[in-house]
Amino acid sequence: MSAYLKLDHIDKYFDRGGQRAEVLAGIELVIDKGEFVSIIGHSGCGKSTLLNLIAGLTPVSAGAVLLENREVNAPGPDRAVVFQNHSLLPWLSVYENVNLAVSKVFRGTKNKAERHEWVMRNLDLVQMAHAKDKRPSEISGGMKQRVGIARALAMQPKILLLDEPFGALDALTRAHLQDAVMEIHARLGSTMVMITHDVDEAVLLSDRIVMMTNGPAAHIGDILEVPIARPRNRIELASDRTYLKCREAVLKFLYERHRFVEAAE
Ligand SMILES: Nc1ncnc2c1ncn2[C@@H]1O[C@H](COP(=O)(O)OP(=O)(O)OP(=O)(O)O)[C@@H](O)[C@H]1O
Ligand SMILES: [Mg+2]
Repeated sequence: MSAYLKLDHIDKYFDRGGQRAEVLAGIELVIDKGEFVSIIGHSGCGKSTLLNLIAGLTPVSAGAVLLENREVNAPGPDRAVVFQNHSLLPWLSVYENVNLAVSKVFRGTKNKAERHEWVMRNLDLVQMAHAKDKRPSEISGGMKQRVGIARALAMQPKILLLDEPFGALDALTRAHLQDAVMEIHARLGSTMVMITHDVDEAVLLSDRIVMMTNGPAAHIGDILEVPIARPRNRIELASDRTYLKCREAVLKFLYERHRFVEAAE
């Protein structure tokens, strides 16, 4: 398989009051079309920075992000992002929030009726069509995340980037949304890159888990393949040997090999 997304020798540093703060060093990663890849690592190691580089929201300091062999260095609808804190516009309804993105991306290619149909199809996909006229303040956190996912998917991105999308949700809502994302991934064959702190979530959802070392100058310490057939069922997996082995490998990486050390100031 050829590289769909390629992170080629990426370094990233920020300028902190004239001092160079090296956040990422020598990031190398190739992701195939349709793959589900999770990025896990301790707080502050540079996961969001890495996702922002892929999204084009932050420029790389060295190296390149290549999507289908073309360098990307600005945000674009081919890389949609879902953030932890639902970033819906509060004065627009659920429908209008998704429609805004759809109108931007498909203005020249879909007419009004087609755009309407497309907004509804994507709301259906996350089971939110029934709440289309509600404002964000009238729906729960889990529902807001569903709408955020619908809005991102409606842009028909080449890659869906998720930065701890379920981080702010309670365990049950989180489980429902994980199942929804797995179903969407299976149905659409989307390529997804997700940051998470949750080991079980990473193993349940991913084809591969990218484990980052601690910063400064964080890099990819190891990559774990998750050889578990899909569709996956969380209850069956709870006692599955491969699942438990993967879980243990990630835990060992995080808590033995790369223990979190509070940065000395
Ligand atoms: N715009 C910026 N300017 C300066 N430093 C930054 C900037 N953005 C991030 N950093 C620094 O880069 C490092 C990595 O931050 P990042 O947000 O990528 O971590 P993270 O792995 O996503 O953490 P968390 O798990 O807590 O979300 C931190 O030390 C942070 O202070
Ligand atoms: Mg982060």
